[in-house]
Amino acid sequence: MRKRIVAGNWKMNTDVTAGTQLAAELMTLLAEKPAPDNVGVAIAVPFTHITEVARCIDQKVICLAAQNCSSESAGAYTGEVSATMLKSASVMAVLVGHSERRSYFHEDHPTLARKVDQVLANGMRPVFCFGEVLEEREGGIQNRIVEAQLMESVFHLSETDFSKLILAYEPVWAIGTGKVASPEQAQEMHKYVRDLIAGRYGAAVADGTTILYGGSCKSSNAVEIFSKPDVDGGLIGGASLDAPEFHRIIHSF
Ligand code: 13P
Repeated sequence: MRKRIVAGNWKMNTDVTAGTQLAAELMTLLAEKPAPDNVGVAIAVPFTHITEVARCIDQKVICLAAQNCSSESAGAYTGEVSATMLKSASVMAVLVGHSERRSYFHEDHPTLARKVDQVLANGMRPVFCFGEVLEEREGGIQNRIVEAQLMESVFHLSETDFSKLILAYEPVWAIGTGKVASPEQAQEMHKYVRDLIAGRYGAAVADGTTILYGGSCKSSNAVEIFSKPDVDGGLIGGASLDAPEFHRIIHSF
């Protein structure tokens, strides 16, 4: 059975003190009531928090993730953080292709492909995010958009490397808007993506790929969304900043 995962994306929230407290509180809650069997927990924290958070969590309980990395390996790239640096700071997974990076920082398909390659080359797991914007959904072209996002940034991978990916479908119109995709909309897209993977890598790889849903997911809607057969958990933004709420989402399977 493929792995289920609930991952928090803190985005640009909390300072080091508050972030470390949040991680510690989540550790306490998971000690009292561990995640269900076969459910992994991850938190994607700001770069500045990585060292302190790594110190206060047990990565057998919470996997430490970063929210971004450079597409380059090293050199004169002021302000960038390489995958090698993240690996050396105990990071295990890296978000790549979040819609906020695509839209605000103009990250295109080839750049994202290079980031995925960097993460894999450093022995970490990419959490590859993709999804359509509102106009694309309203125009009925969401499948074509998602197919292009996968084709251009991850379908170049070998089967072995692809098997290390975690995918996250995040319809942009549902992110931070309170407007959640219906469980049926999520299931439909997740199934479509799994079929695309089957076409490229075969049924066994498709069946083993964890595909998360993200976008206004909270404890009040997670149970219904996670109950869909092709939805393997969630990538949680705002609701991951509240440890008890995030812990409830972890227990929504
Ligand atoms: P919200 O849960 O705040 O809508 O954010 C989703 C998201 O972008 C997670 O990466």
